[in-house]
Order: sequence, then structure tokens, then C-alpha cells
Amino acid sequence: EKDKGLIRDSWESLGKNKVPHGIVMFTRLFELDPALLTLFSYSTNCGDAPECLSSPEFLEHVTKVMLVIDAAVSHLDDLHTLEDFLLNLGRKHQAVGVKTQLTVIFGESHKSLLYMLQSSLGPAYTTPLRQAWLNMYSIVVSAMTRGWAK
Ligand code: HEM
Repeated sequence: EKDKGLIRDSWESLGKNKVPHGIVMFTRLFELDPALLTLFSYSTNCGDAPECLSSPEFLEHVTKVMLVIDAAVSHLDDLHTLEDFLLNLGRKHQAVGVKTQLTVIFGESHKSLLYMLQSSLGPAYTTPLRQAWLNMYSIVVSAMTRGWAK
């Protein structure tokens, strides 16, 4: 319960518009692994990561990712109700042609999420908060990965 409070409060403190935070997250992700950029078919329309991340297609994906996290935060009490949605989402990522080991990708994306939280929250980013987010995000990502593997 304490963990849920930490997650809810910190997510709320990021403000209503989560897109800029999503951009921080994905900027970090592409820094950690520039090859991920090429997994987006539309990345051929742009040059480097900053340019791509300001393109409409990328912004749309960032927005979608933030909506998924938002849904998870809203369903902390009944995360299992998102199971089918997340399995499907994992499967869709397979269908759109994200060919490389998605397990690894989703697994690594937690680092950029934590980086975003750390840079936005400052001193409010504590070890228990980090752990609470990590627990929730692993549930999301593991469901997506199971959908992917099907
Ligand atoms: C759709 C790639 C991570 C949520 C897509 C699409 C691509 C893609 C190519 C289809 C085109 C589009 O809608 O933009 C990737 C790659 C990822 C990644 C390469 C890892 C680096 C994630 C994560 C989430 C997510 C972590 C959520 C936690 C979504 C959603 C859609 C989507 C909600 C729309 C699915 C639909 O059409 O119903 N992704 N994605 N993606 N992605 Fe991702």
C-alpha cells in the first residue's frame, strides 16, 4: 500500500502532460542503445535521435507509452485486469516487426524510465520509490513479453 502511494504521488507530481517526460525517457533509451531507433520503421524519415523524437510518429509512440504507464498507475489495485491488454500489446509489437529480442528491449527500458523519474523528481526519488516503480514496471513488461512470446 505504501508503494502504491509512492507511485501515485510521484506520477501525479510529474504534471498532467506526460509527453515531455516520455521524451526524456526515450532520449535516454536511445542514448543507452542507439540501435533501438532503427526498430521504428519510420525512423528512416529522420536523422538523429533528437530529430526523430520531435517527429509526429515518435511523439505519438511516446504518448502511447505514457498512456500505458498511466493505465498501470491507475490500476495499481487491480493490475491483473490489464493482463489481456498487455499480452495483446506485446503481440502487437511482434506484429509491427520489432524483430530483435524484445525481451531485452523491454527489460532495458526500465533504466530509462528510472532515469526520467530521477531527473524529474530530484530528491523525492528515493530507494523505496525506485523499487516500487521497478516492481510495477516489471509486471507490465513481463505481461508484454509473454504476449510477445506467444
Ligand atoms: C506501438 C515500437 C516500447 C507501447 C508501437 C509501434 C512500434 C513500436 C513500431 C507501431 C507504430 C506506432 O504506433 O508507433 C516500440 C519499440 C519499443 C517500444 C521499438 C522499445 C524500444 C514500448 C513500450 C510501451 C509501448 C515500453 C508501453 C509500455 C506501445 C503502444 C502502441 C505501440 C500502446 C500502440 C499499439 C496499438 O496500435 O494498439 N511500438 N515500442 N511500446 N507501442 Fe511500442
